[in-house]
Amino acid sequence: MTLDILALSGSLRRTSHNSGLLRALRVMAPPGVTVDIYGGLRALPLFDQDRERDDVPAPVADLRRRIREADGVVIATPEYNSAIPGVLMNALDWASRPAGDSSLRGKPVAILGASPSQFGTARGQMVLRQVLHRIQAPVVVEPEITVFRSHERFTPDGTLLPDEVTEDLMRRLLGELVRLIEATARPETAVSA
Ligand code: FNR
Repeated sequence: MTLDILALSGSLRRTSHNSGLLRALRVMAPPGVTVDIYGGLRALPLFDQDRERDDVPAPVADLRRRIREADGVVIATPEYNSAIPGVLMNALDWASRPAGDSSLRGKPVAILGASPSQFGTARGQMVLRQVLHRIQAPVVVEPEITVFRSHERFTPDGTLLPDEVTEDLMRRLLGELVRLIEATARPETAVSA
């Protein structure tokens, strides 16, 4: 069985560290798991509740379809003003609507993030967890991956420099996401913490 993971970066920046994290994650996927980095967030219009159900913009329909088709989602987010970027929030708003037909409800999600600060997106990830909780998407609890001082840990083109600790954490994160996907598919086997 193959598991398909859809990866979203909260940054549109050409040399984004968060997009770089996702590229590193993609090559770490264990056998039977594919990580596909979604390239369509730039095309999303601003959320418009008049168009959430009817006359849905094509980029929104594409995002919702790709999330529905995926077994799980990975989100790498920057921290903007102690929260998450509008680009990501906009995508989550579109994907979580209309009420009663959210593509994210029940969809297993893993999160991580990189920033140049010493906190490495810790505050932004708290916000993201809160949003995903409201959306009713189960989120991997551990490991938490906050790649701090990211300006020292990526090449100028946004490629993660060799880093055993971070790579090991990312492998564990993928493993936990697979576990969460399997537990969500077979709720009777889920073990409470
Ligand atoms: C930032 N940045 C930032 N960093 C941080 O650690 N905490 C913060 O609250 C903020 N706030 C913030 C607001 C805005 C509007 C911008 C544009 C930037 C810096 C940010 O972490 C940095 O630009 C990262 O490199 C962005 O991630 P990517 O683009 O490299 O993935």
